Amino acid sequence: MRSAAIYEAIVPSNIAFIKYWGKKQQELQWPANDSISMTLDSLHSKTRCRFLPTAPDHAVTLNGSYLTRDSGPGAKIYSHLDFLARELNCQDKLEVSSSNSFPTGCGIASSASGLGALTLASIATWFDCSTIDDFRTKDISYDRLIDYARMGSGSACRSLTGGFVQWIKGDHPDHQKVVQLYDQEHWRLNDTVVLFSQKEKAVGSTEAHRLAWSSPLFAPRLAYLPERIQQVKDAIAKQSIKTLGPILEQEALEMHSVIMSANQPVFYINQAASEFLAWLIQRRKEENLSVYFTIDAGPNIHLIYESAQQSRVLELIESYETITDTLTDTVGSGPQLRKFKESSE
Ligand code: DP6
Repeated sequence: MRSAAIYEAIVPSNIAFIKYWGKKQQELQWPANDSISMTLDSLHSKTRCRFLPTAPDHAVTLNGSYLTRDSGPGAKIYSHLDFLARELNCQDKLEVSSSNSFPTGCGIASSASGLGALTLASIATWFDCSTIDDFRTKDISYDRLIDYARMGSGSACRSLTGGFVQWIKGDHPDHQKVVQLYDQEHWRLNDTVVLFSQKEKAVGSTEAHRLAWSSPLFAPRLAYLPERIQQVKDAIAKQSIKTLGPILEQEALEMHSVIMSANQPVFYINQAASEFLAWLIQRRKEENLSVYFTIDAGPNIHLIYESAQQSRVLELIESYETITDTLTDTVGSGPQLRKFKESSE
């Protein structure tokens, strides 16, 4: 008799300072380069799982809507569940309900938090783990969970660790590692996301990763990146926003240049976002404010700055004439897991 308990994983999103862009090996999710990110605190995915006795297949909802195996996010979620079931030899079908505390699929790394939360919640259900420490008692190391999350979505492997995190690609797909550079107490940075679109993007990042190799800018980028990675690590070590900021901006614009110069160009940054960036560059100079941008695979702009500057930064954004929605978050400590009886919620 299977337990009727519910297992809930909350996994935060993360914002990449050095982007994971392009894969060296698709099947094993081996990235073309190392990446560095900051794990967020309140922007997260919450995934609940329980056994579905006798059901022929898993049943998955995302933000309240049922997903099928062939739909966009459904395809990624079901295929990850199939992968985990094969790897861990778990036949039981699951009911999975997931929700994001932010808009899905528009450049706020919903696949990082979503696939991370799916990994933890499904394995917790199959192995009856009530806390993160329980995985170890079931012979599932945290590094193995990170590997599993990475197979669901590359950026998800960084979301399983709090603070400032580096995904090291290593010299072989099996030698990849995720390391915490510093925990969340090291440096209070904020990420304010300025939303220019809440629609799901037309071309998903998995598809766009494949096109990276066709850009003439990609090989020079890969050659130069080790130097930039070292600069970012030094800036984080010294807590120097004035060093980190310009590197973040160059890195984000370079990733988008690769995306736009591929043989099937993709335009994630829209006109409203570009106009905002031009305005920001001018206004921050006038205000002498250390606020810098980065952009993931979507039109929304992430503003990175020291948390002590939050009220000045929010005031500045509010003065922008086109009204925009914003989400403000800070560095977080990583995932949470809990188990509860169905009747308790
Ligand atoms: C632009 O992790 O979504 O957010 O591994 O194919 O699922 P898959 O790709 P995904 O790529 C995210 C890329 C990025 C940059 C980053 O987070 O490093």
